[in-house]
Amino acid sequence: MENITTEKQKTVLSLIQPTGTPTLGNYLGALKNWATMAQEYDCIFGAADLHSLTVRTEPALLRKRTLELYALLLALDLDPEKNIVFVQSHVPAHSQLAWILNCYTQFGEAARMTQFKDKSQKNADNINVGLFDYPVLMAADILIYQSDYVPVGIDQKQHLELARDIATRFNSVYGSVFTVPEPFIGKRGASIKSLQEPEKKMSKSDTNAKAFILLTDTPDVITKKIKSAVTDSEAKVYYSPDKPGVSNLMDIYNACTGLSNEQIEAEFDGKGYGDFKAAVAEAVIEELRPLQEKFDRIVKEKTYLEQTAADGAERAARRANRTLGKVMKKVGLWKF
Ligand code: TRP
Repeated sequence: MENITTEKQKTVLSLIQPTGTPTLGNYLGALKNWATMAQEYDCIFGAADLHSLTVRTEPALLRKRTLELYALLLALDLDPEKNIVFVQSHVPAHSQLAWILNCYTQFGEAARMTQFKDKSQKNADNINVGLFDYPVLMAADILIYQSDYVPVGIDQKQHLELARDIATRFNSVYGSVFTVPEPFIGKRGASIKSLQEPEKKMSKSDTNAKAFILLTDTPDVITKKIKSAVTDSEAKVYYSPDKPGVSNLMDIYNACTGLSNEQIEAEFDGKGYGDFKAAVAEAVIEELRPLQEKFDRIVKEKTYLEQTAADGAERAARRANRTLGKVMKKVGLWKF
């Protein structure tokens, strides 16, 4: 008799908020890796629209952004049949589990989250309870799928730690209910900085539109933005902490072409920043071209988007409800 024990494929989960068109930084730092992970793991990816409610947004705009983000996820070639690509609010079990986990999270723990403190300062006129509870909903997103790995950037690490603490605490009371998730340590995504202030992260909320490249920017716009990127007066291409602007452009070039720093330095030896920037712009345009073409096509196919989202939600809910049912029983809710 055959006795093959294959290790269960690990589950990877990550969500992204529909707060606007993602930037080149979001793409090279995270989304591009999602596409690679999708081939190797059991992946669940989605749009965290409930998280976006913590900041007041025009309803029609939130809906449009969610739909566009969903189309963009599909355009990444995440394979919605093998993996799950869904919208958070389509799976009610997330909110249900979040409520239960609230009762297993200490006020002090949530109050220590640095992102909450930052956001409270920035939105002093709307420090709502959702903003405070945001990391608990995120813990529910993760734990409800028994996720093994969560690829997160540095700004979400503390939230993942909290999810691990909640899971461990819950398990120690009720037996092993949740998989305790690990941060995904794979190929590290590039950390892309602002084109205008290369000490800062590239952010779509930057007041200077030249500081970031959006995934939907046209080739002309991309070229203009890269041409006006801040460099220095040395006119020599090499990687150094003293040259944050040039180093950032090298990171972008590396992430798009796979060329090492040495190879890039050799390629532009004796050439000025004009040639270098032109090559970086070309590489970015080529990198984004297939994604943009697919996005432009998919975003117009409303029926396809709706059907795929419905299918994703159904498959996600089936898995999420298994965990939710177990949790309800454990804590003593009347489940039948
Ligand atoms: N809070 C994350 C962010 O803004 C988005 C998010 C929501 C998330 N739920 C998640 C990320 C679960 C990873 C896992 O970036």
